[in-house]
Amino acid sequence: MTGPVKIVPSVTTADFSRLGEEVTALAEAGVDRFHWDAMDGVFVPNLTFGPAVIGACRPLVRTGFEVHIMCDRPEAMLPRYVEAGCELLIVHPETLRQPHAAYQQIRDLGARVGIAVSPATPLTVLDHVLDLADLVLVMTVNPGFGGQAFLHSMMDKVAEARARIDATGRDIELEVDGGVGPDTIAEPAARGADVFVTGSALWKYDTFPAAVTDLRARAAAP
Ligand code: DX5
Ligand code: ZN
Repeated sequence: MTGPVKIVPSVTTADFSRLGEEVTALAEAGVDRFHWDAMDGVFVPNLTFGPAVIGACRPLVRTGFEVHIMCDRPEAMLPRYVEAGCELLIVHPETLRQPHAAYQQIRDLGARVGIAVSPATPLTVLDHVLDLADLVLVMTVNPGFGGQAFLHSMMDKVAEARARIDATGRDIELEVDGGVGPDTIAEPAARGADVFVTGSALWKYDTFPAAVTDLRARAAAP
């Protein structure tokens, strides 16, 4: 069963010189939580920010924070993201030497666990770790940059992920990330996604409240 639709902005497209203002405005627009894209220039060919920047924004809003960690070997840094105020840590298993141990480490830190699945990564990576997961993130672009085109070819994978989640009988969120906007959000919604990361699409509306209202409606009635 899918949960209520959640609209989760990626701030990768924000004006970084005004990051605090953008985060405050998005929170006032009623987003469900924030999606912070941490990139290291190694696992992905782009560099963004880490726990210091995320933590600096934490006192500005009450909305929850999730971090999508696109960094090679992030194990030693995981506590820093929790200290920065992230309640959900989403990590790609191929970046981890011992994925099961790292996902358990996140739980032990008191945070929720997300497992990120890149386009060419099969859902078999969920085998033996899905019992530790609170969220599965199916990437609908190759990780690294905002503003890329939505990969329609991932829709069978979204449906299969929903089936795997439902088979557990547990309450695990199914999130899609990359190229999600007004023209694409209904497709993953119809296949059982319930959390929608949106980056560049938000900045194409006249206002953030208009974006959140429109995207939420399109996802709720796919
Ligand atoms: C891609 C990131 C995404 C992305 C979202 O590596 O994980 O969160 O930047 O931005 P849009 O919605 O523009 O694809
Ligand atoms: Zn992301």
